[in-house]
Amino acid sequence: MSTDSQPDKLEPLFTEPEIQRRVSELAQEIAGDLHGRDVCVVAVLKGAFMLLADLLRRLHDLGVEPVVDFVKAGSYGSGDRSSGAVKITLDVSTDLVGKDVLLVDDIVDSGRTLSLLKAHLQAKGAASIRTVVLLDKPSRREVEFKPDYVGFEIPDRFVIGYGMDYAEKYRQLPYIAVVKTRG
Ligand code: IMP
Ligand code: MG
Repeated sequence: MSTDSQPDKLEPLFTEPEIQRRVSELAQEIAGDLHGRDVCVVAVLKGAFMLLADLLRRLHDLGVEPVVDFVKAGSYGSGDRSSGAVKITLDVSTDLVGKDVLLVDDIVDSGRTLSLLKAHLQAKGAASIRTVVLLDKPSRREVEFKPDYVGFEIPDRFVIGYGMDYAEKYRQLPYIAVVKTRG
C-alpha cells in the first residue's frame, strides 16, 4: 500500500480488453452448460463483484436468466495471503433446493474458500454447483480444489485490480496488475 509520497508500483498483467475477451469466452462455455436451467449465480464478496457484473451481462446476451445472490467468507488472520480456517460471514438468502448454482470468485489460491463454500451450498440442496474464477494459482493449493471454469492460470504472484485488493485498495481497476511494494 502506498505510504506518504511513495506510490505503489503497478505492473500490468492482464489488460482490460484481454479480460473482457476471456470473460466472453467463459460466458459462452457456461451458457452452453447452463442454458435453460434454473440457475442461481452466487458471488463471493468482495472480490468477485467485477467479474460478476461483466459475466452476468455476457450471460444475459446468451439468454441465461439467473437469480443472483452473495456470500462473504474470510480467513482468520490477515495479510497479503489468505491463511488458516475460513468462516462464512454472510450467507445466501435464496432457496437453493434443486437449483443449478454457479459460484463466482475472483481467484483461487489455497482453495480453502471455494472448497468450503462449495460444500456449504451443496448442503443447502443445490442440484449442481459449478465454480468460475478469473484467476487460478494452482501452485498455491493447500486443499484439493479444481474450478470448473478458469479465466487465466497465473504463477505465485500477488495480484490486484478487477475486484481484487491489497489492503482494500485497487478493487476499482479495470485491469489486473502485480503490486511492487516499496519500503
Ligand atoms: P483461498 O481460500 O486461499 O483460495 O483464497 C481465496 C481468496 O484469497 C480470494 O478470494 C481472494 O480474496 C484472496 N486472494 C488470494 N490471492 C490473492 C491475490 O493475489 N490478490 C488478491 N487477493 C487474493
Ligand atoms: Mg475473495
